[in-house]
Amino acid sequence: GLKVLEALAASGLRSIRFAREVPGLQAVVANDSSARATELMRENVALNQVGHLVTTSMADARTLMYQRKAQRDLFDVIDLDPYGSPSPFLDAAVQAVSEGGLLCVTCTDMAVLAGNSPETCYSKYGAVSLKGKFCHEMALRIILHSLDSRANCYQRFIVPLLSVSADFYVRVFVRVFTGQAKAKASASKQALVYLCMGCGTHHLQRLGKATSHGSGFPSCRFKFGAAMGPPVGPTCEFCHQRHQLGGPLWAEPLHDGPFVEQLLTALERNPARFSTQDRMKGMLSVITEELPDVPLYYTLDSLSSTIHCNTPSLLQFRSALLHAGHRVSLSHACKNAVKTDAPPHVIWDLMRCWTKLHPVKRERLADTTPASRILAVEPKLQASFTLRDDANPSSRKRGLKRFPENPEAFWGPKAKAKAG
Ligand SMILES: C[S@@+](CC[C@H](N)C(=O)[O-])C[C@H]1O[C@@H](n2cnc3c(N)ncnc32)[C@H](O)[C@@H]1O
Ligand SMILES: [Zn+2]
Repeated sequence: GLKVLEALAASGLRSIRFAREVPGLQAVVANDSSARATELMRENVALNQVGHLVTTSMADARTLMYQRKAQRDLFDVIDLDPYGSPSPFLDAAVQAVSEGGLLCVTCTDMAVLAGNSPETCYSKYGAVSLKGKFCHEMALRIILHSLDSRANCYQRFIVPLLSVSADFYVRVFVRVFTGQAKAKASASKQALVYLCMGCGTHHLQRLGKATSHGSGFPSCRFKFGAAMGPPVGPTCEFCHQRHQLGGPLWAEPLHDGPFVEQLLTALERNPARFSTQDRMKGMLSVITEELPDVPLYYTLDSLSSTIHCNTPSLLQFRSALLHAGHRVSLSHACKNAVKTDAPPHVIWDLMRCWTKLHPVKRERLADTTPASRILAVEPKLQASFTLRDDANPSSRKRGLKRFPENPEAFWGPKAKAKAG
């Protein structure tokens, strides 16, 4: 059976739910440093008759985890649900979790992670946050970066199972493995982000390079070195403004696709089990649709507002990306995200083509604005905004409850837009 630690347990509610609802557990430790909380936990454990599984503990979570590490008595699952940032507990957690074990980590310091306080973000997570439209996904990638780099100190590394941005918090579920050779790949899994301050175009710069030489044991097949860069010039090629530099962030997949599919299957097998079933199903379905290999995203309204045009419907814009031969998906982290493998010059060409159909009043734009600079260039491709059936995500076709509130509001064409 699995050994579970709820390191910051407060009332013990979550530990009690683990004990009552998760089959096959060996033991749950519910820990809190507060005497009052521990007292409450004891009462709740007794009231819920889970004393055979749940042990309460009153200790600093770090002391408890370091002791268990020293005694080689590791936990298979460690849940961290702090007030604000989990950063003080990460070093102990990556050591006190068993081989292949699971860390479940919540962050509620979204202002820090989403770019309001990049310097605080650096001190807590070792990464500079940015206020880009992609900030909710960036928050997930910053906590994953932090976990992986803490694990690296001990020749360990993380494998994310599921990374969720919801309401005003993020929560990640990662497995931790050990392997000196595999931990070497970590530099090449992280990236800096260049974000243009004028038009919001972003570029990623990996921190390291992994080159395969195709033979030998899988873990020895790679050579590692420094990455080449930067990916941008001194100013933005589209609007001539300068870039902000953020990161490093985790630039590898946020989720394990087959794992998320299994979760969905399990939910469907037992539809009455959770009161939040509909939202869980909707969110997990969008997650299965996310392009796994494309970090971050644009939003349709920011692309349009940069060049002062009216906004195509998401369906029109997604169709145009597909017609141009690229992939596109939503993101569960942001309602109107456009996650695409189309390079920025294609995205701006599509927007330029859109303004041919829906002209922008250029005379009121100063020559130096991002809109003028972008629109001064003729598109190299001819966009088609004709709607495609495959531009409509399956989660939307099936009418799933995908986002917290009012999921349908932004979908149809905006006031003045016409199907191109
Ligand atoms: C957000 S609450 C946990 C809520 C709980 N997981 C739940 O679902 O009900 C955070 C808890 O962490 C505890 N705490 C803060 N610092 C701690 C530390 N260093 N060691 C152990 N517990 C700590 C606080 O006393 C508080 O009860
Ligand atoms: Zn720019």
